[in-house]
Amino acid sequence: MGRKLSPEEQPWCIDKTTGKVVINKGVENVCIDKSTICFIDGFHSKLYYRGYSIEDLAAHSTYEEVVYLLLYDKLPTRRELTDFSGWMREERDIPREVVDLLCKIPRDVEPMEMLRTAVSFLGNLDPGRYDMSREGMVRKTIRLIAKIPTLIAYWHRIGLNRELVCPDPRLGHAENFLYMMHGERPDGFSARAMDVSFILYAEHEMNASAFTAVVIASTLSDYYSAIVGAIGALRGPLHGYANVEAMRQFDEIGSPENVEKWYKENILTGKKRVMGAGHRVYKTYDPRAKIFREYAKQFAERRGGKAKTYYEIANKLEELVMTQLCETKNICTNVDYWSGIVYYSLGIPVDLYCTLFAAARTIGWSAHILEYIAENRIIRPRLYYDGEVDKEYIPIDKRT
Ligand code: ACO
Repeated sequence: MGRKLSPEEQPWCIDKTTGKVVINKGVENVCIDKSTICFIDGFHSKLYYRGYSIEDLAAHSTYEEVVYLLLYDKLPTRRELTDFSGWMREERDIPREVVDLLCKIPRDVEPMEMLRTAVSFLGNLDPGRYDMSREGMVRKTIRLIAKIPTLIAYWHRIGLNRELVCPDPRLGHAENFLYMMHGERPDGFSARAMDVSFILYAEHEMNASAFTAVVIASTLSDYYSAIVGAIGALRGPLHGYANVEAMRQFDEIGSPENVEKWYKENILTGKKRVMGAGHRVYKTYDPRAKIFREYAKQFAERRGGKAKTYYEIANKLEELVMTQLCETKNICTNVDYWSGIVYYSLGIPVDLYCTLFAAARTIGWSAHILEYIAENRIIRPRLYYDGEVDKEYIPIDKRT
């Protein structure tokens, strides 16, 4: 037997005013730094990137412009944007070795695992991988943001046994992605929907994946390790993979008529959570969900068929969430609830949805890495020790 520690022996856990032990489980509401990148007002459904509202950016901007804004803290002039998107276009190709790697990765792994491996390998091949200067980090950021859509599209086409479609430098980031996926240029509405999806997913303050990236970068590890770690964090169903799980949930429900029965059997009994609902920060409707929802509605009207069925199921389930879970626990539908229906309408297979989130979010992760390491301090929290100390060490042969 050992002895338990008293709280006084762990003063870092004690609140000085109340004298009580404080544990911020899940690091909830703990500010780890100052930032000028993103502000979420979770009580009034507001989101700003560098001070600009998500509604304005989604209505008027392009993903390239948002990437520039997040990196340089200003909206580009037309000239600056032309040069910047030209740079992004030049970086889209991936080395032959990476294409070979994509052919070797087992097809039954989750696409996020493919992305984790491929990004890590891209890092191995990057001659500037150890350059931690701001310029070097920006170069790697652009390189990676430009290449990830190519990785996803190639992975998709390798799986279908179809010829790869090389990036087309005449096309913008989002339009080029759909072109590489499907082998034909998308219509204007689809290209814009894809572009807006990249904008909506570009950044979201100190969430689990951004935190992971920053923790890794704070040890002065390398850029690619930080991004690979962030991909790993995003892959969980409580975070980015929720957009895949939301679609699987709509499939399980099957039809709008089955929504109430499914909700009673699964949510009211506490067996399951609504995937794509709830958020650590938003206690009202996620403003990104509102924009995705409108695109999902328009696709349902334009495409009909399964896109319409998904929309109707989602709409009906959302009514229950908003009248029941939102009333009692402030749980509203979030960005991952609606994005999948938009991706489905764009002809993208469900298992790729989290990789699209990662493709968009790489800029957010990178902006946080850059901001944090500019005034770096290693991230090292503490735990409250609830075990015993001073236990008697018993030699192995005497243990029962
Ligand atoms: N459906 C049903 N009930 C829920 C849901 C949900 N989606 N989310 C939370 N709750 C309930 C919990 O059961 C808990 O109830 P209780 O107090 O009666 O025990 C209460 O709401 C609080 O839940 P926590 O898990 O403590 O909330 P937390 O802030 O830790 O978790 C999270 C947030 C992980 C997003 C959670 O809401 C969840 O699991 N959602 C489903 C997955 C999802 O959509 N993730 C995407 C988030 S957005 C993003 O990462 C891009």
